[in-house]
Amino acid sequence: MHILITGGAGFIGSHVVRRFVNSYPEYRITNLDKLTYAGNLENLRDIESRNNYRFIRGDITDGDAMLELFRKERFDGVIHLAAESHVDRSIANPTEFVMTNVVGTVNLLNAARAIWKDAYEGKLFYHVSTDEVYGSLEGGGGMFTETTPYDPHSPYSASKASSDHFVRSWRDTYGLPVVISNCSNNYGAFQFPEKLIPLFINNIRNEEPLPVYGKGENVRDWLWVVDHARAIDVIYHGGTQGETYNIGGHNEWRNIDLVRLLCSIMDRKLGRPAGESEKLIAYVTDRAGHDLRYAIDSTKLQGELGWVPSIRFEEGLEITVDWYLMNQEWLDGVTSGEYKNYYRRMYGG
Ligand code: NAD
Ligand code: TYD
Repeated sequence: MHILITGGAGFIGSHVVRRFVNSYPEYRITNLDKLTYAGNLENLRDIESRNNYRFIRGDITDGDAMLELFRKERFDGVIHLAAESHVDRSIANPTEFVMTNVVGTVNLLNAARAIWKDAYEGKLFYHVSTDEVYGSLEGGGGMFTETTPYDPHSPYSASKASSDHFVRSWRDTYGLPVVISNCSNNYGAFQFPEKLIPLFINNIRNEEPLPVYGKGENVRDWLWVVDHARAIDVIYHGGTQGETYNIGGHNEWRNIDLVRLLCSIMDRKLGRPAGESEKLIAYVTDRAGHDLRYAIDSTKLQGELGWVPSIRFEEGLEITVDWYLMNQEWLDGVTSGEYKNYYRRMYGG
């Protein structure tokens, strides 16, 4: 079994690569990543010398290169995570999101179809997507199920929604064996410190302001990244081809409540007086088109495949804070661009 994991040097991808390399020594795992600002081979130090693992630097927007790669490597499966993933960046530079998330996904679909077309048996194209494609749960009630109509609002979520549609169209038009999962907000080790939780941990550590958008009343449904990687494993091996699975831990938090919890954990860990870090909270202009609430109903995944989250959020957040405090070198490195320059020297680009 030879599996291609795209975006494996990023936050979630690195946890997926680690899980597959460790759990399936009999598989060959190839990690293809462009190493953008968000991709960092430091995330995979512990498994990089394993003999069932290999890294290739490559760009999914290069269709010819993808076709060539698939011809040469003859992958049995693809787990596709490579993407531009930050909503604020998508507002500043939407075209890059179309290129990577839409065109890049279509390039991979084309390459998989070209190589597999007469022999789909045992093959699988697994597309990793987000709950943000469903839009926003305004007015407080309800949850996203697999049949909730798509209603994306940001260039990021529109590009992911578009890529999901293309994946389904390859299933319906060409019979490609596909599966899609849509997951809620992830947190944990190795997340680039532009996303809420690692950004705020870093800012609290450095006693810098915590920019809460709007009134901090937006709600997100948080899942520990290790539980997401396990769900991907469970779906890859036990999911039904052609199906979609929502992944989430029934764990909704208003941003401001989450930030206050984080401040209290950080005060305790850093030996600061209780209430000290909350003074850093600064309400700033709201994000344009800011979705009010996301909430995932993962009954299908839990009922059909028996997946359940492994830890409570409060526990996962403690572990996460400990990890960032113990890995300050990683945080300083990814924010200074030091690692990026190092890998640029090694791999070019
Ligand atoms: P990330 O930004 O941390 O990592 C993305 C990775 O993709 C990076 O390693 C980057 O170098 C690579 N990449 C970007 N453009 C590329 C290109 N053109 N060619 C090859 N590689 C490229 O993102 P993440 O948070 O780990 O998200 C991974 C996937 O999971 C994305 O598809 C995202 O939409 C989805 N997702 C994320 C979340 C979340 O909370 N972070 C939740 C649900 C779904
Ligand atoms: P983020 O981590 O960017 O994830 P997403 O936008 O994909 O949900 O943001 C999580 C929530 O936190 C979202 O409601 C926006 C908010 N937020 C802030 O209030 N301040 C910040 O500096 C950031 C990055 C996010």
